[in-house]
Amino acid sequence: MQSFEQLSSQFSTYFNQAHFPAQPESLYRPAEYFLELGGKRVRPVCCLMGNELFDEILPDTWQVATAIELFHNFTLIHDDIMDKAPLRRGLETVHTKYGEPTALLAGDVMLVVAYDYLNKVKSGHFHRIISLFNATAKEVCEGQQLDMDFEKQATVSLDAYLKMIELKTSVLLAASLKLGAVLGGAGEGNLHHIYEFGKNLGIAFQVQDDYLDCFGDPAKFGKQTGGDILSNKKTFLLIRALETATGKDQQELTELLHSNPPDKVQRVLHIYKNCGVDQWAMELKNKFLNQSLQHLDAIAVLSKRKEPLKQLADFLIQRDY
Ligand code: IPE
Ligand code: IPE
Ligand code: MG
Ligand code: MG
Ligand code: MG
Repeated sequence: MQSFEQLSSQFSTYFNQAHFPAQPESLYRPAEYFLELGGKRVRPVCCLMGNELFDEILPDTWQVATAIELFHNFTLIHDDIMDKAPLRRGLETVHTKYGEPTALLAGDVMLVVAYDYLNKVKSGHFHRIISLFNATAKEVCEGQQLDMDFEKQATVSLDAYLKMIELKTSVLLAASLKLGAVLGGAGEGNLHHIYEFGKNLGIAFQVQDDYLDCFGDPAKFGKQTGGDILSNKKTFLLIRALETATGKDQQELTELLHSNPPDKVQRVLHIYKNCGVDQWAMELKNKFLNQSLQHLDAIAVLSKRKEPLKQLADFLIQRDY
């Protein structure tokens, strides 16, 4: 059994190599550029941990973990176009550096290479793996579309927001764990609980992401802070501020949603602070963290084996990057 940190460093060593041919450089250099920016690599590590919870890590699991990380990076390249994001992992996004058409293609080819890795899987569970991978990929697209649709809506309920972040973010974490567990030979009951563990944890993870988008330290976070405010993203911060702000704050927030003054971010942040957002973020994260830990408890393996997953949960909801 290895700790979350040990597996993270092992995966980085394994993954940090060229994944694309040299030519044409105008396509593949941007793709490699993005992978070289790093990232936390949490999803592939989830896949490895999902396997190791039940059995020794198989060669197949490294292939699936690699496919998952490539798929994730593909979604980020395209997400940064959709979100007009200038920065990722502390450096320029692919479309900022190389232009949108190249960023689209670099993402596309990364997705195809992800399937090359999946295609190396020799396990008898091959079809089950592809089915879960594809079902998840479709859900991510659905979540991403809802995220953009919500930008244009005046209000969104907290439940609709939670469903959207489940689709765009948490199902991939859940599926990463489950794919590893399938390869590790887990039974149906345990597969259900590991998926639900990941799903609830993934929701807390996106809540933290939305919090950091407003209140993160730009030097650590590596992304432009305030981007969600500029895009009128319907995050829990905005949803709850619209519900709880009173008097002048309420009116100003509604006005700011329909305009783009140069000090929009600072003004919205000021209103958020007046409403006590730190407290909500904590409550919302803890609610989903507790639900996830109940599912972790229900997995029928020795509790000692679950330690790496507990470390993962702590890291994901307290992270500052
Ligand atoms: C970013 O994911 C996209 C979200 C779902 C919030 P990560 O925060 O895992 O990004 P990297 O891979 O570590 O950069
Ligand atoms: C992104 O959510 C989710 C996916 C890429 C599927 P965000 O748009 O909040 O992620 P960041 O903040 O850009 O990493
Ligand atoms: Mg984004
Ligand atoms: Mg986005
Ligand atoms: Mg974000």
